[in-house]
Amino acid sequence: MRIAPSILSADFARLGEEVRALQAGGADLVHVDVMDNHYVPNLTIGPMVCKAIRPHVTIPIDVHLMVEPVDAVALEFARAGADLITFHPEASRHVDRTLQAIRDAGCRAGLVLNPATPVAWLDHVMDRLDMVLLMSVNPGYGGQSFIESSLSKLREVRRRIDTHVAAGGRPIWLEIDGGVKVDNIGAIAAAGADTFVAGSAVFGSPDPDGGYRGVIARLRDAAVSGASR
Ligand code: DX5
Ligand code: ZN
Repeated sequence: MRIAPSILSADFARLGEEVRALQAGGADLVHVDVMDNHYVPNLTIGPMVCKAIRPHVTIPIDVHLMVEPVDAVALEFARAGADLITFHPEASRHVDRTLQAIRDAGCRAGLVLNPATPVAWLDHVMDRLDMVLLMSVNPGYGGQSFIESSLSKLREVRRRIDTHVAAGGRPIWLEIDGGVKVDNIGAIAAAGADTFVAGSAVFGSPDPDGGYRGVIARLRDAAVSGASR
């Protein structure tokens, strides 16, 4: 069970401190939401910010690209210290090539599926994937409500990954992103996710000292007990 707080909801004026507090609080990954005002309406952060936070943490930086086109930006993030890079397949002309370029740059690679994007996008690239990220909100903003139909889609992708691994394929992480809270993460884990992005849930419930240890532990405990149901 990996908890990946999204810095989209962090205090951007204190990002270094914020990511250090995430790592000190037990976060497994730092999730970085990159939006370009083209593929999605919002505009957030570029590779310079990734490079700036890189020295503040040793945990992997998980870059979620909501940009079109993908390739040049992906390579910039690889150079800026990203460990995992995911992108939306409909934003790339040549999905297989983009996945390979990310891996050639030394990063783990994954695809992101929006709520209405068919799972069939995974069909011919399973052996190229380190992660599948399912969006449980439409991309663009933090603080939206979890779309319930994501649970059946999670179960379907979990079956595909298990089949792939049973046939000798590499393990693939299954990440969920959008509207994840302490009160629904158990059901999400039960549906097959193993990696959980949480933005507003983490940054909206700091500990009295300003850290995030408490909320990260509550998310993890609820995910672990949900998965064992
Ligand atoms: C949405 C982003 C998410 C978002 C999650 O486009 O990909 O990572 O920040 O935020 P919460 O957890 O607040 O729904
Ligand atoms: Zn994201």
